Amino acid sequence: MGRKFFVGGNWKCNGTGEEVKKIVSTLNAGEVPSGDVVEVVVSPPFVFLPLVKSTLRPDFHVAAQNCWVKKGGAFTGEISAEMLVNLGIPWVIIGHSERRLLLNESNEFVGEKVAYALSKGLKVIACVGETLEQRESGSTMEVVAAQTKAIADKVSNWANVVLAYEPVWAIGTGKVATPAQAQEVHSELRNWFQANASPEVAATIRIIYGGSVSGANCKELAAKPDVDGFLVGGASLKPEFIDIIKSAE
Ligand code: G3P
Repeated sequence: MGRKFFVGGNWKCNGTGEEVKKIVSTLNAGEVPSGDVVEVVVSPPFVFLPLVKSTLRPDFHVAAQNCWVKKGGAFTGEISAEMLVNLGIPWVIIGHSERRLLLNESNEFVGEKVAYALSKGLKVIACVGETLEQRESGSTMEVVAAQTKAIADKVSNWANVVLAYEPVWAIGTGKVATPAQAQEVHSELRNWFQANASPEVAATIRIIYGGSVSGANCKELAAKPDVDGFLVGGASLKPEFIDIIKSAE
């Protein structure tokens, strides 16, 4: 299989200059497996990207939490893919459920954003996931397949995409998906890529899990064959993020 384990830390809208410096120094001191074993990407708010990029250990990388859907210009408040490239920020998270739900980012809009970011040379963590209502009505796969299809309609080269499955009902709730629940959706998504992209894409794309991942539950989740890593929220702001990175071993 040979998919390198991937651990992302989504800091969301959190942090002050002082707190960010403290988190970075904790990360820089962490004992973790080599970059051959695990790929680590942390995602601070835009305003801290230069600070984190310039002080973070060289074996960890930095992501923005979003970017605009096309070239910059008269789009007040937006940050363009070109600006991130110009700042040497290699990764960007796109389609996080908080943006889909709070800012009404549609599947199509997310697909366009992913395609544009990739076209400018950024690597993308693309997020999909169902709400509790959608899971309880049995439409989980229908929902995440539609979200993934909207990206696939605009993207053919998946080499620089990591897909994050983040069940909305597990985000920030402490109600982590069971390893079996995560494995089921991840393997269904891999099957989706097998049928709708190619066997090579299905075999190589990292499908990572997000939603209340912690130092206590990461090992069991990481042991599942189609769980290729994590996108961590709350715990990525804490020293236990190092333990989560170690679950790659
Ligand atoms: O993007 C990761 C995030 O949505 C998960 O949040 O706090 O449940 O780990 P959390």
